[in-house]
Amino acid sequence: MSAKATGKLRSRAWFDNADNIDMTALYLERYLNFGLSLDELRSGRPIIGIAQTGSDLSPCNRHHLVLAERLREGIREAGGIALEFPVHPIQETGKRPTAGLDRNLAYLGLVEVLYGYPLDGVVLTIGCDKTTPAALMAAATVNIPAIALSVGPMLNGWHKGERTGSGTIVWKARQLLAAGEIDDSEFIRMVASSAPSTGYCNTMGTATTMNSLAEALGMSLPASAAIPAPYRDRQECAYRTGRRIVEMVAEDMKPSDILTKDAFHNAIVVNSAIGGSTNAPIHLCAIARHIGVELPLKDWETEGHHVPLLVNMQPAGEYLGEDYYRAGGVPAVVNQLMTQGLIRESAMNANGRTIGDNCRGVAIEDEKVIRPFDTPLLADAGFLVLSGNLFDAAIMKTSVIGPEFRERYLSNPDDPEAFEGPAIVFDGPEDYHARIDDPAFGITPETLMFMRGAGPIGYPGAAEVVNMRPPSYLITEGIHALPCIGDGRQSGTSGSPSILNASPEAAAMGGLALLNTGDRVRIDLNKATVDVLISTEELAARRTALVAKGGYAYPASQTPWQEIQRAVVGQMDTGAILEGAEKYQRIAQT
Ligand code: FES
Ligand code: MG
Repeated sequence: MSAKATGKLRSRAWFDNADNIDMTALYLERYLNFGLSLDELRSGRPIIGIAQTGSDLSPCNRHHLVLAERLREGIREAGGIALEFPVHPIQETGKRPTAGLDRNLAYLGLVEVLYGYPLDGVVLTIGCDKTTPAALMAAATVNIPAIALSVGPMLNGWHKGERTGSGTIVWKARQLLAAGEIDDSEFIRMVASSAPSTGYCNTMGTATTMNSLAEALGMSLPASAAIPAPYRDRQECAYRTGRRIVEMVAEDMKPSDILTKDAFHNAIVVNSAIGGSTNAPIHLCAIARHIGVELPLKDWETEGHHVPLLVNMQPAGEYLGEDYYRAGGVPAVVNQLMTQGLIRESAMNANGRTIGDNCRGVAIEDEKVIRPFDTPLLADAGFLVLSGNLFDAAIMKTSVIGPEFRERYLSNPDDPEAFEGPAIVFDGPEDYHARIDDPAFGITPETLMFMRGAGPIGYPGAAEVVNMRPPSYLITEGIHALPCIGDGRQSGTSGSPSILNASPEAAAMGGLALLNTGDRVRIDLNKATVDVLISTEELAARRTALVAKGGYAYPASQTPWQEIQRAVVGQMDTGAILEGAEKYQRIAQT
């Protein structure tokens, strides 16, 4: 039962339960032992959790250790008692084999904490890629009042007078290194220049995307997502977030009041306008499933593809996080979309007002960084959802198709949106790294590069490896990108127009498992299809042969969690969640 319905806080069941004085005493005595008083715990003041995702192992979110002080002040001042606790660390760039593996683990851990401890509400500290969906997924499942606080992006990076953006500079520096234009130490210097301060990736990678979408969904305060981590505004935002969660508990405003179908629709539209990451459909689907909202993958195309790109941020554009904030951040983007009727304005924000009321009339402060709707960077900037005989669903971020790619593959006057070529198939990133630069392979500008064995089961958690650079001998000839298709993910900081998140993956015996190097594959962006040009009979025969061999082979699990995740994880087109977890919804109310 909710606090509003009973007039009683959830935490009273632990700290003030006359029916069970025995356990009440036990719960109380241990929460007193660091100096909290009986009076504080039994005063009827809400107990607010601070789900701390920052740590030395999670540098992108580490600044939350500092922000937590201002959060606590806000919570205390509004009448709450703060209890901070750690969330399983997820560092996108530091975790082996992939941080993707840890999203569902952090989710599981956070569900147990939110459900099993005396918390009336929670502040979710979000930032680095997977920390945001993990926290929102858990809040959705448990459904106690929850608000997200972003840590904010790093300051802009600079190298030789140019902005260097997280991740995006890595792809560029790798090409320079492969072409022999820079040495190893310059490579490291270039990459490190993109990280000048505390905070998360300053590009429109998965972190900026997911923090922007948390705001678009209504789960964080308006105008909060884009504030750079070191800015004073970020501290103030922490304070206001702390104050607000206490009010939310009093109002009994829960994730289910915010995360409606309209909210997800708004997030999809915003994602197109900001040039958001290809990881967003996976994570939003996962959050939607845990709150019980239908969000088919095709919605990303039907509701999002026709939306133009307004935010000029790397990798699709030029600018970085500080510029995005100064130009107006999410509310300025939403206001542009509202002028076209693209936003469902009655969706609620955690601040208790609608997104329409929060964002109406918010001006763009710098039109180089956020474009007005009628002069976008690009039309139709959302994702395409593709299918064919190699997979049932995959997505493509068309906003990052550059001129070189367009000229080479999409400019045949008879067939402008389609191309075909011979496949080269890599089984996992290690196979790719071992073979890519071997000229004996005969990779040409016509080759289509396939990555398989990189999905939620095959490379447990799904690796960000589908965007593959061409062999160095082609880069020196001026070929900077070949078409890439695969069952893994791609970093949101990558500017490659890959076809990725293919579901079902090879390890689940999707069609990619049947592909051979040398097969011709046709890609038609107009029809949104990818097909290997061999007969249905031949494909069926290959499937029979592969099943007889025991199926598509992938490396053994290295840890217990890898084995558990592989046994119960779903595919990326349905959010790659732990399938058995979906039925546990709104459990704090039961
Ligand atoms: Fe953490 Fe990009 S690596 S936000
Ligand atoms: Mg990433």
